[in-house]
Amino acid sequence: MTESTPGGLENLLSEDRRFAPSPEFSAQANAQHDLYAWADANREAFWADQARELLTWSTPFTQVLDWSDAPFAKWFADGRLNAAYNAVDRHVEAGRGDRVALHFEGEAGDTRTITYADLQREVARAANALVALGVGTGDRVAIYLPLIPEAVVTMLACARIGAPHSVVFGGFSAEALYSRILDAEAKLVVTADGGFRRGAPSALKPAVDEALAKGETTVQHVLVVRRTGQDVAWTDGRDVWWSDVVDTASDEHEPVEVDAEHPLFILYTSGTTGKPKGIFHTTGGYLTQSAYTHLNVFDLKPETDVYWCTADIGWITGHSYVVYGPLINGATQVIYEGTPDTPHKGRWWEIVQKYGVTILYTAPTAIRTCMKWGEDIPAQFDLSSLRVLGSVGEPINPEAWMWYRRVIGGDSAPIVDTWWQTETGAIMISPLPGVTATKPGSAQVALPGIAAEVVDDDAQAVPDGAGGYLVLTAPWPAMLRGIWGDPERYKDTYWSRFRGLYFAGDGAKKDGDGDIWLLGRVDDVMNVSGHRLSTTEIESALVSHPWVAEAAVVGASDETTGQAVVAFVILRGDAGVGDRSADDVQTELRNHVAKEIGPIAKPRQILVVAELPKTRSGKIMRRLLRDVAEHRQVGDATTLADSSVMDLIAQGLATPA
Ligand code: WTA
Repeated sequence: MTESTPGGLENLLSEDRRFAPSPEFSAQANAQHDLYAWADANREAFWADQARELLTWSTPFTQVLDWSDAPFAKWFADGRLNAAYNAVDRHVEAGRGDRVALHFEGEAGDTRTITYADLQREVARAANALVALGVGTGDRVAIYLPLIPEAVVTMLACARIGAPHSVVFGGFSAEALYSRILDAEAKLVVTADGGFRRGAPSALKPAVDEALAKGETTVQHVLVVRRTGQDVAWTDGRDVWWSDVVDTASDEHEPVEVDAEHPLFILYTSGTTGKPKGIFHTTGGYLTQSAYTHLNVFDLKPETDVYWCTADIGWITGHSYVVYGPLINGATQVIYEGTPDTPHKGRWWEIVQKYGVTILYTAPTAIRTCMKWGEDIPAQFDLSSLRVLGSVGEPINPEAWMWYRRVIGGDSAPIVDTWWQTETGAIMISPLPGVTATKPGSAQVALPGIAAEVVDDDAQAVPDGAGGYLVLTAPWPAMLRGIWGDPERYKDTYWSRFRGLYFAGDGAKKDGDGDIWLLGRVDDVMNVSGHRLSTTEIESALVSHPWVAEAAVVGASDETTGQAVVAFVILRGDAGVGDRSADDVQTELRNHVAKEIGPIAKPRQILVVAELPKTRSGKIMRRLLRDVAEHRQVGDATTLADSSVMDLIAQGLATPA
């Protein structure tokens, strides 16, 4: 079980506040109570109905779920469709071309309004340009862009030609980008000169140049969007400007019909080992569940709502709830390039007011940060348009939940705390806003069509009131189809712990009502500001520095970011650290991690120690290190090979690096 409760969930079993939706909200809600009964009656038939209702199929499917090669699922396998056609063209064909698809807000205050008709032309042009650059159906395209309209356009252009995209978050380093390009064998990289971040241009193209200089790759071209106007180095023959090849391309393009099981994208995420996993998703099932959840969990009314999900497209939330879910449903949405405090701490609320945002989807860490800044900041803006609030990425502590509801939601907007993962593709556990009486801090119940359970070590369902591991007990349409190039790892990671059950890696509890509370990861994955980081990956980054002999990394609870990275390192005696100050050592190693993985992985704290606590079999006891990092009394250390180690570490802490 989890040894710490991120976000301060200690009081969760005593939580007895309930917030039922108002009768007015319930009456108009897309999802009514009978959705559960419909799904329960026949889960597969339910999903087939959703797939037919929410998507346009160029070749209708006759098969629903094929689980004969479990745990490798196929959904709607004999159907054919195109994702970009579903997200864009069909809305235009239905006479809705004038509807705004994207209200883009740049960090510097520049804006663009893009209708569905505009988006169709842009995506068609980009698709033609990709083809002209040699990208064919099935080829992979790496996308390393800021959150600008071209990012959405590029993803859809890839989907339009059936080329799986692999979006790499702009905050990842050249090294991380390189390993992802190699693993996916990408043929093209789409990037920008840079993006705007905290009031200044932040370069991206140099990281692509650096990545491609690391060794042989399959990349033939780099397509570069001009965003900041920064100088860029140029490799003739390889690099091409977006304005030269996309803006000049024809805006007519026939979408490529693909099988429902054709890969739509790969997205890398941290696992328990050092090597990131290329989670891959296919087309029909993924789109069905993204659209279904987006419509029902957020109660989307495409004609009137203005929806805003604050996630970057570099994460799964940006894939499912910025690009595919909302666009499939014909939503009008806001996308914002920058940070919440540029140029002032009210920027998000100013955007809500400006566009009349009705549905807001964000992460607990952002809510806690806004709490810290003070409620007088949102109070300066008119937030009365908001009618549904969503949370994702990590457990939301009841205090932040209550603040979100009261200060942002005017004490009335239902909050949907949505649990899911890169692997699940779409939301799995969440209240339905017109149905569920919500509880601060709990994601509560599996959605209609989804089967989740909390089990003990022997895979038995725990009784209400008890804790264990979260598992999914039946296949679902948006489930990952595997780990790119590594089917064995897929089976080992998710399907070997409990026979026939999908192991999510999260600890969970059921309360007296049977509602589910998520308790954080039970494996070596940390969750920092809703971003997944692997302890092993950061440890390998640290030991790749010549000064470091050994490293152990733990996620310590942090008031704002949920968890924070704390590293314990043993330095090499002969490595030339010399008489550098502890501060210098810490700075050097933190920057090294940023270079190897990205700034988000920088440890909050690095402690130089003489020894690490290990069991007799040589396993590092991270539990004890977490106690130290969280300033707790160190727990049971009797299985240590050398019990004096913890004393040494405690002494070392008197002079932290
Ligand atoms: C955590 C993000 C509690 C969880 C969509 C999961 C949550 C991991 C919640 C997946 C939530 C996500 N409550 N924990 N509502 N949502 N998590 O792949 O530990 O970036 O396993 O997907 O985030 O992170 P990922």
